[in-house]
Amino acid sequence: MTTPRPALVVGNWKMNGLLKDGLDRANLLAGRLGRAGRVPFELVICPPATLLWPIAEAIRGSPLLLGAQDCHAEPAGAHTGDVSAAMLADAGCRFVIVGHSERRAAHREGDDRAKAKAESAIRHGLTVILCVGEGSAERERGETFARVERQIATCLPAAASAVNTVIAYEPVWAIGSGRTPRPAEIEEVHGRLRAFAGSRLRDAAAPRVLYGGSVRRDNARDILSLAGIDGVLVGGASLDADEFWAIAEASIRRGERAGGTA
Ligand code: PGA
Repeated sequence: MTTPRPALVVGNWKMNGLLKDGLDRANLLAGRLGRAGRVPFELVICPPATLLWPIAEAIRGSPLLLGAQDCHAEPAGAHTGDVSAAMLADAGCRFVIVGHSERRAAHREGDDRAKAKAESAIRHGLTVILCVGEGSAERERGETFARVERQIATCLPAAASAVNTVIAYEPVWAIGSGRTPRPAEIEEVHGRLRAFAGSRLRDAAAPRVLYGGSVRRDNARDILSLAGIDGVLVGGASLDADEFWAIAEASIRRGERAGGTA
């Protein structure tokens, strides 16, 4: 049996965290990761933009990875209030979340904008975490696959590959609600997404597919042990370093079960 890819455990802090609070959380995670030695997961934190530089400095040399929550599609220019992918790379980011449903809803960002952002992120050496997911009305109408496949078909730029792009399946109704799809549903959507996205990536390889939406300490092990789950995108629960660490540790058993090494 081949060793599975390390699980990708991503914390999206959203608009939360002042300097001391953010540095404490990042230092705690970096310290634990350093003491843990070799682990079968990659840990990424996505703080708000104001904390990227100080956190990058604080975790320099640590395996803890840094990501951002959004980027503009242009590298620079007259875009008041925005941050470009070039700036994020300059600040030490390795990842950027693109197309999150909160950006889509609150900033009216459509698939075309997500594609342009993903394109710019890849051009500047970042790994894109592309969020897709259906709303509750689409789910009730049985349109989940149609929705997420359309998002993938429209949002993936030509340069996207399984190396520079990760897909995060986040049902909009599950985000921050405490509700999650049934395990079989998550497995089915992930299987289809991986095959569909893989056929559209330039290397035609299977991308990593994360699950996001109300992941907590108490459901992480069940979710991470589902077939075809390559990791999780965690919002609220990533604001508590102990809980986020417990979620990451839940992936260790997944690695052991699949024949990997911890
Ligand atoms: P949640 O958010 O874990 O708080 O549901 C997930 C997300 O928005 O990425």
